[in-house]
Amino acid sequence: GSAPIIAVDGPAAAGKGTLSKRLAEALRLPHLDTGLLYRAVARLMINAGLDPASTSGESIARALSLADLKRTDLRTPDVDAAASLVARDNAVRQALVDMQRIFARKNGAVLDGRDIGTVIFPDADVKLFITASPYARAVRRYIQNGGTDDAPDRDQRIRTVEIALIERDHADSTRASAPLRMADDAIRIETDALCADEVLAHSLRIVRDRL
Ligand code: C5P
Repeated sequence: GSAPIIAVDGPAAAGKGTLSKRLAEALRLPHLDTGLLYRAVARLMINAGLDPASTSGESIARALSLADLKRTDLRTPDVDAAASLVARDNAVRQALVDMQRIFARKNGAVLDGRDIGTVIFPDADVKLFITASPYARAVRRYIQNGGTDDAPDRDQRIRTVEIALIERDHADSTRASAPLRMADDAIRIETDALCADEVLAHSLRIVRDRL
């Protein structure tokens, strides 16, 4: 048949990005981190002086290209928060649907996000739902951001990251338009006790079983 489409959804900082990139390499498929679409719209709005809480990013979303996703300023805390606001806007979401579908239908793909298995590709060949406790995700994000285990303010900084993650998950799960939700036919992988290599090996077994 046609090239496979693999949906990887889950909450913030669950390891979807790392997994999807490695899964795509192993399966020789293109990878699209769909969070970057919302992040790029958010960044372009911020830089244009537009407030995502009160202004629609639809026209920016319609003009977005894959080149915009290569910007290096898409993972800052202000963009984290603004992207989640941008993502509530149904006109923005509609503007980005075609881009995601065209990308993936060309040569197959691994796509990671929040609504890939529920909205973008309800017929994806395989759907994974990657999750972990807020605390485990906060610790990983803390380490990723250069935090160390012996820092005197370690616990406090992890707690701050954890609160921001919980807020973003809540916003993403309760919005009206394409909320974060596990598709009924997705396979849930709890990664609290797994390292990145184990998540990859487990996911590859699941995917290869189903393709
Ligand atoms: O995955 P990442 O944390 O980079 O996504 C940033 C934001 O983009 C999320 O908090 C969410 O609001 C939004 N998003 C979305 N749908 C997707 C991917 C991301 O709404 N498929």
